[in-house]
Amino acid sequence: MPLPSPYPQLLDGAAVSSTIPSSELHRVFREADEHERVSGAPVTKLHVGEPYFTPPPEVAQALAQAVTRGHTTYTEVEGLLELRERLVEKLTDENGVDTDVSRVFVTPGSCQGLAALMQAVAEPGAEILLPELHWPIHLQQALLAGLRPVFYPLGRDYRPDPESVLAAATPNTKVLLLNSPANPTGAVLDTATLRSLLDMARAQGWQIISDEAYEHFVYDGEHVSTASLERDVPVSERIVHSVYTFSKSLAMTGYRLGYLSTADERTARAVRIVQEANIIAMSTPVQYAGLEALRLGQVVRENRAMVLANRDAALPAVRDAGLLPELPAGGWYAVLDVAPTGLTAEEFAARLLESRNVAVVPGSGFALIPRLDARGRVMSAEPAPWSRHLVRIAVCVEPRVLRDGVRELLEFARECGGAA
Ligand SMILES: Cc1ncc(COP(=O)(O)O)c(C=O)c1O
Repeated sequence: MPLPSPYPQLLDGAAVSSTIPSSELHRVFREADEHERVSGAPVTKLHVGEPYFTPPPEVAQALAQAVTRGHTTYTEVEGLLELRERLVEKLTDENGVDTDVSRVFVTPGSCQGLAALMQAVAEPGAEILLPELHWPIHLQQALLAGLRPVFYPLGRDYRPDPESVLAAATPNTKVLLLNSPANPTGAVLDTATLRSLLDMARAQGWQIISDEAYEHFVYDGEHVSTASLERDVPVSERIVHSVYTFSKSLAMTGYRLGYLSTADERTARAVRIVQEANIIAMSTPVQYAGLEALRLGQVVRENRAMVLANRDAALPAVRDAGLLPELPAGGWYAVLDVAPTGLTAEEFAARLLESRNVAVVPGSGFALIPRLDARGRVMSAEPAPWSRHLVRIAVCVEPRVLRDGVRELLEFARECGGAA
């Protein structure tokens, strides 16, 4: 029997944008806030990827100083040269990525960097390969850029097997999106997997967009930047475009500061056009805040240690209860399988919020499969059936909030007869 769809009949006008499903994350944000308002009881928020740690005070001071000193005019569309020079150093030293200021762009969050890259590489009728369990914004961005999404399967450990990625592709596939560490799964791709995906992409004539927003949050193994694996290839033949952010490593979510590095000069020219049209330039004071933030490497290490401590304090109990196959190797989230409770993810999330004031996100929003018409408009979108019991929780929240939320969640699951 098909799942009851929370996304009925999307085709709602001629514009592609009017047919794109709203992000499930945003729906849950609104629902949790509404529940809090109506019930008057505080909601334990395990649905939000908002860290409990805050940006260092030096960052705020640099921002304020930039404003008072009058650094408030437009910068170049690519971003402040001084900041891009520092980012080239960071990418070289930390990520092993060989790049140049001419290929680095400062962006309003990495979200906009991803969207800009998709617009820059999109060709009419081209397909983009996305992981079957993906950040919903990747799907929205692909559709808005005019790329047709195709999904590659993930194994039991949520890591893709290169053979299955190839099997999911078609002759129209032009772009492969990789996200390691991944949202929502926390999966981290190792060098061998990345290398075979890269070799395959090269052989097939694809480009790769590597979303490395959670680069500093790897707990088991190490972060490998996909572009570092092609540093010995001539620039004009490189295919990996990489995206990074200050939001996660330094908790600068509201500053909206990210950056990207294109594989080659041709794509850099295309991104320049996209950015001229979309942003003119990135906020200038925020770029000065970024310059200061790059000096604070120690804070990044402390932030990683805090999320790791949260993971290790809260998640073993969830695993032992049979709701989590293994601890996430990276990122800020864990994907729980609540099948033992007998509830669908939507039922689980709704009843947990109602009875225990705990908000989580149903996994269906991370596994939507849209059906498109010839013009790229979404005619319908259904969650993949295997996602019906998956639920995402955030582990970057305050330790007390995580502990209380997980305790309530496990008690609730036991009540339903579904947790060991
Ligand atoms: C996988 C992934 N990429 C990119 C982003 C974008 O972050 P920002 O735009 O704040 O840099 C997020 C935010 O949650 C994310 O989860």
